[in-house]
Amino acid sequence: MINFIKNLPKAELHLHIEGTFEPELMFSIAKRNCIDIPYQSVDQLKAAYQFNCLQDFLDIYYQGANVLVQAQDFYDLTYAYLEKCAEQNVKHAEIMFDPQTHTQRGVAFDTVFNGIDKACQDAQKKLNVSTLIIMSYLRHLSEEKAFETLQQSLPYKDKITAIGLDSSEKGNPPSKFKRVFEASIQEGYIPLAHAGEEGHADYIWEALNLLKIVRIDHGNNALQDEKLVEEIVRKDIALTVCPLSNVALQVVDDLKNHPLKKMMQLGLKVTVNSDDPAYFGGQVNQNYIEIQKALNLSKKDIYELARNSFQYSLLDKNRKALYLQELDNYYNLHKD
Ligand code: ADE
Ligand code: ZN
Repeated sequence: MINFIKNLPKAELHLHIEGTFEPELMFSIAKRNCIDIPYQSVDQLKAAYQFNCLQDFLDIYYQGANVLVQAQDFYDLTYAYLEKCAEQNVKHAEIMFDPQTHTQRGVAFDTVFNGIDKACQDAQKKLNVSTLIIMSYLRHLSEEKAFETLQQSLPYKDKITAIGLDSSEKGNPPSKFKRVFEASIQEGYIPLAHAGEEGHADYIWEALNLLKIVRIDHGNNALQDEKLVEEIVRKDIALTVCPLSNVALQVVDDLKNHPLKKMMQLGLKVTVNSDDPAYFGGQVNQNYIEIQKALNLSKKDIYELARNSFQYSLLDKNRKALYLQELDNYYNLHKD
């Protein structure tokens, strides 16, 4: 089963590039930028990765991102992740970045974007991994700040496919960003949002009805509301579920109690993703491997999850069809 998962063609749809920052790379970039990290060693830093909730994690995650200054830093971060994609048979990745984490501390939007974009272009050529870029607004900041970010993104709008909404969920409902989502959609961006990770099912209703999102990041708390589940199924909207993240942030107490299988049984379209792999104990394949074991998923279940990852990607129809064909060929050869 482990080899079946490792070799399976798949896409990753929920990934924060800042969350791929491995401690070793963080220390080396900090050194070349002459920035102090408040930890003596990689091991000491890793020991701090103990979270009781989303906010605990975010505090450390934003601190780590502080050492990223030059376009080359963003390039190195992104390329390192894309090399891991190639190793894991992740054929396609939809990468979120948080521009405000960087612009707030004086790093230009252009610097951030150019580094990430160049790495994506090189990865397509050298690693044969395709990518799309998602720009996420930080929900703990104001809608006005999100509008500023939207303006800064416009020179790159042909290279940014979608917008997202992330950071501290509780107390920052989707309704706070209704106008900036409307304006972003007007500019051609596809709307996505984190919803129902720590927030109540009502936040998912808002994300659907007010922000018009076409895919839900996490969405675990949809299970609190039967009518909402029906609505998500009816609208054929997928959830980008992140099993190891859910355990690390105590959204779920144990992987054995993870609702992923129940979600699938209810007809929800589920995908498996790593969220912030450097912080949560595993890349996307590790997420598949551990959730398979915890919930005793079959090869057919795993195939369905990978199928959803291509089907509910933001790729055009023709490219989806090519990836789905590759997946089907693989499954037909290895299903027994
Ligand atoms: N930013 C990075 N990871 C996140 C998560 N899991 N939830 C909300 N915001 C995030
Ligand atoms: Zn996330």
